[in-house]
Amino acid sequence: MNKFIVTGGNRLDGEITVQGAKNSVLPILVATLLVNGESVIHNCPCLSDVDATIRILEYLGCMVTREGHTITVDSSTINRYDVPDNLMREMRSSIVFLGGIMGRMGKAVLSTPGGCEIGLRPIDLHLSSMEQFGANITTENGCLVCSSDGKGLQGTRIILSFPSVGATENIILSAVLAKGTTIISNAAREPEINDLADFLNKCGARIYGAGESTITIEGVSALKPCEHSIIPDRIVVATYMIATMMTGGKICIKDIVPSHIGPIIQPLRDAGCIISVSGRNVMAAAPNHLKRIRMIRTMPHPGFPTDVQAQMMALTTIADGTSVFVENIFESRYKHVGELLRFGSKISVEGRMAVVEGVKSLNGAKVKATDLRGGSAMILAGLCAEGKTEITEIHHIDRGYDEPEKVLSILGADIKRVNKDE
Ligand code: EPU
Repeated sequence: MNKFIVTGGNRLDGEITVQGAKNSVLPILVATLLVNGESVIHNCPCLSDVDATIRILEYLGCMVTREGHTITVDSSTINRYDVPDNLMREMRSSIVFLGGIMGRMGKAVLSTPGGCEIGLRPIDLHLSSMEQFGANITTENGCLVCSSDGKGLQGTRIILSFPSVGATENIILSAVLAKGTTIISNAAREPEINDLADFLNKCGARIYGAGESTITIEGVSALKPCEHSIIPDRIVVATYMIATMMTGGKICIKDIVPSHIGPIIQPLRDAGCIISVSGRNVMAAAPNHLKRIRMIRTMPHPGFPTDVQAQMMALTTIADGTSVFVENIFESRYKHVGELLRFGSKISVEGRMAVVEGVKSLNGAKVKATDLRGGSAMILAGLCAEGKTEITEIHHIDRGYDEPEKVLSILGADIKRVNKDE
């Protein structure tokens, strides 16, 4: 087991590009199941969640090759429709295989994904949507058995009670090859939904309105292979911007999609950061003193992303004054708070609300990554803390960040990945 050793105090400064988006590449790799032939996906980050997705595709009979950041999937050899429990459990978002396998095979057997570090994560919206396509769902020995009974999926109208990202993706995957038209109301509007629709439309799907609340999908009979490049990861952009702001530095991140990071720019400006966007580049410079951010409420896109809540909280631990967070998306996404306290920060949590009283400085600490984004918040706190920080359980961080130690070192950070026993 590896750990990160961070020696705080270096001011980050420099220019970087970021990896492709984890939350795009996962559903797009699943979507290759619907294509007859070889899909070529560029700008795929090297992440353990991507490895887990590839293992499932291979288990299903697909031929997968990887060269650098390009993954090629030939799904014409698919010969199974089940995903065993051990592979399902490797990655929470494996539920998106439900739509991919059902769309291609008309039946699917998957073990039920349990809760995870950030909450219970029920799948009721995924299952009720699948039933609306005419599928039968039963549970046998802890497995979901889903079948369209040889009739194929039928286009339908689905009104989501909450704009779930994964459920919207599953509906799109089920609808592209279904008979007739599907309309999703209250669909998720995250940029990763657009990326999935862009990929599928290049393959010949007819998806209209992705990125808006109403998405219309006209079923087609087959999809043809195409090449696609994954969008830059907006959460990773936010993470490195916040890291730099916490160390009093300045950063230029090139080749981003500015509209994707809109929701995090205003809170950073509220904290006193100077942010400018020029073309596909964003520049950020830290103020002499970070100011409090009065209130951060996580919301579905285009609201403030829950995936940046932990990192922004790390920033407010050293801001002047009191900041308040309300986590509206996941019910237990404050596991990082206990670890942030070890740095000498002042945070109290009451239900979905966290109150952060800024302190003058943090002290290096021995902490663990409690989950993916909580883990990245430990790196950020370590970078601005006095002295040494040791972060264990970094496999959580490797699920979503492609070699963060290398990217941060380019910016001047002192961070090393070492074997835990060293
Ligand atoms: N929910 C239900 N029932 C459902 C589905 C969702 O109650 O059937 C609830 C969830 O329990 C949660 C809320 O709805 O409380 C939001 O869940 P959503 O389905 O939107 O999230 P997801 O698809 O499971 C994706 C990202 C998450 C990100 C969320 C919200 C992927 C692979 N994961 O999860 O990413 O936090 O959307 O934006 O796309 C991360 O990258 O760190 C991460 C957790």
